[in-house]
Amino acid sequence: MSHELGRLEDLPADYVAAMRERNLVPLWPSLRGVLPPKIPTRQTQATHWAYADIKPLLLKAGELTPIEKAERRVLVLANPGHTLEKMQASAAMYLGMQLLLPGEWAPSHRHTPNAVRMVVEGEGAWTTVEGEKCPMSRGDLILTPTGLWHEHGHDGDQPVIWLDVLDLPLAYYLEVSYHLDGARQEVKPGQGDRAYARAGVVPTPVFGRSGRRYPMMRYPWANVRAALQSLAEDQPDLENVQVTYINPETGEDAENILGFHALMLRPGQTLALPARSPAVVYHVIEGGARVATSARGFDLVPADTCCIPGYTATTLTNASATEPAFLFVADESPLHRKLGVYEVRTDSQPAMPSQS
Ligand SMILES: [Fe+2]
Repeated sequence: MSHELGRLEDLPADYVAAMRERNLVPLWPSLRGVLPPKIPTRQTQATHWAYADIKPLLLKAGELTPIEKAERRVLVLANPGHTLEKMQASAAMYLGMQLLLPGEWAPSHRHTPNAVRMVVEGEGAWTTVEGEKCPMSRGDLILTPTGLWHEHGHDGDQPVIWLDVLDLPLAYYLEVSYHLDGARQEVKPGQGDRAYARAGVVPTPVFGRSGRRYPMMRYPWANVRAALQSLAEDQPDLENVQVTYINPETGEDAENILGFHALMLRPGQTLALPARSPAVVYHVIEGGARVATSARGFDLVPADTCCIPGYTATTLTNASATEPAFLFVADESPLHRKLGVYEVRTDSQPAMPSQS
């Protein structure tokens, strides 16, 4: 069913005009565009953002724009395939590199899009989420899920930079994106990453389980790195040394829409990842990695970020013969699973989800 369909220009001009005046459009000239054969049309382009390019421009923003004039001082990593104006990395993912200078405070607010931040550089900053003060160190992942109050401060003496990952493009597309401003939060005792410090056990006061949807806000990199190393040592033949950030109470994804993972490449390893439906963002925490598709390849150094469109087989290579590489990975897999469109293609044939 991929024969040529009638075009708009095949129709009489007065007929088309009569339809348009009544807010009507014929489907068949656009049908192949919205329902192409075998593989979706993707605006998302494979794109690499080098940290060496971002950092000087972001520090310059610190000179040009005071925090009061920016609220969040962010340079958006915009995918040219979506046009830069749309400020999106993929269909559902937004990426922004944010700068907070010593002594600055980004005021408390909450919003409908879900966010996380991956700390890239600097010490001394913190994010308070619903009264829980989360210290920020390189590689830490901090959640600020939909509707939760959050603010950022910085008690250190060097600039702090982090990568924001939001489902903002989806929330905006759905016309549900908005924010509320709030007062400075009172810090309460308790840190989720301490309460859930070890896998396999959870706090059970009076033998009950926490009913909180988001029991853990901060995932310290030291713990995630140790988990990857432990996995690699335990299973020396394991190819995919990979973990996913989850809700420790339910085992579900840490947030509802976007998925967050960490991956270790052994020294000299080349890891072939199959084509999956979600777009994927790779961010190097330690070491270096080449991220390649059949069409493009990027050599990432620490703090570099790239985006690969969905349905694209990808190869990750650690060129170092002596050191492992560690990557943070964000994707749209929770959303795709909830929508029932999640796919893994192990060959060139479509593997559309079906009832059977
Ligand atoms: Fe925010």
